Amino acid sequence: MKTMLITGGTGFIGRHLSAQAMAHGWQVIVLTRDTASAAGRLPAGIRLIDSLDRLTQGEPVDAVVNLAGEPLAAGRWTEARKQKFIDSRVATTQALYQFFAAREQRPQVLISGSAIGFYGAGNGQDKPVDESAGAVDNFSHQLCQQWEQSAAPFESLGTRLIYLRTGIVLGEEGALAKMLPPFKFGLGGPVGDGQQWMPWIHIDDMVALILHSVDQSDLSGPVNATAPNPVRNREFTRQLGAALHRPAIFPMPGPLVRILFGQMGEELLLQGQRVVPSKVQDSGFNFQYPLLEDALTDLLSGQ
Ligand SMILES: NC(=O)c1ccc[n+]([C@@H]2O[C@H](COP(=O)([O-])OP(=O)(O)OC[C@H]3O[C@@H](n4cnc5c(N)ncnc54)[C@H](OP(=O)(O)O)[C@@H]3O)[C@@H](O)[C@H]2O)c1
Repeated sequence: MKTMLITGGTGFIGRHLSAQAMAHGWQVIVLTRDTASAAGRLPAGIRLIDSLDRLTQGEPVDAVVNLAGEPLAAGRWTEARKQKFIDSRVATTQALYQFFAAREQRPQVLISGSAIGFYGAGNGQDKPVDESAGAVDNFSHQLCQQWEQSAAPFESLGTRLIYLRTGIVLGEEGALAKMLPPFKFGLGGPVGDGQQWMPWIHIDDMVALILHSVDQSDLSGPVNATAPNPVRNREFTRQLGAALHRPAIFPMPGPLVRILFGQMGEELLLQGQRVVPSKVQDSGFNFQYPLLEDALTDLLSGQ
């Protein structure tokens, strides 16, 4: 049985991934800061460790999925919090590198976290952004760039390396859960001018895409983890309202977003690029939910 080590395995994506990886026959080890709390959040059969030193020298780890990091959307971005976003991700990744560099047995593949924020500030421009695109500098870009750079030394260990540039993951947690309350009260609507792109992905496709990336030995480098049909915020809003059978006519003006959420609102809510998953599609991955309407119907039926 092959072994997968997951950091951030107690989080929204990590919990879905852990369960699916087990179902696909992996032995799953989750590195967590708090094993007692993790035990209540993860299915039985997953091994929980609070330090890499708990892995014994002869114990092989075949794949590592590195998702750990301080949550970005929990509030305003102060300078101290921005530093924590960087440090939590970079320190975890550096610790992984130091651990495996000192070992004879190295993982065959590292799927290392990143985000579509790598591409930086964007507006309503139509140009599709694939993995070869350059970036427009802002904090989100700097964070993702430093996170990716901290994983890069794994290549010198002979480990295949993927930078998972993740879009807005839709599921029972994360961005969708935050959007639901106003929409359910009929108070939802476009954010700013609604022209900004929202590259999204259904949580089931997110997990399937990670497992596909682990298996595809010829896939490496940046991989956009987004559905093939990103939509603008205005269209996302319309479809969310329709899925909930509620109006979605109350706009949240850009200046108000900036006052309420500061830089976080500017970069996560008012900006976006039309990111497309070219590499994973070229590698033969088929999305179960390529269209937003189907993803929302699946996630919100019964709401
Ligand atoms: N969800 C999305 O839409 C999305 C989009 C783009 C990128 N991403 C990135 O993908 C990764 C996983 O996303 P997610 O939504 O599953 O995140 P999440 O639910 O916030 O979980 C992140 C995990 O990271 C660990 N963590 C939190 N703060 C930490 C800190 N200060 N130091 C070390 N570890 C810390 C926690 O694990 P323990 O408490 O067990 O240690 C937590 O379970 C994140 O890094 C996120 O930035 C997510």
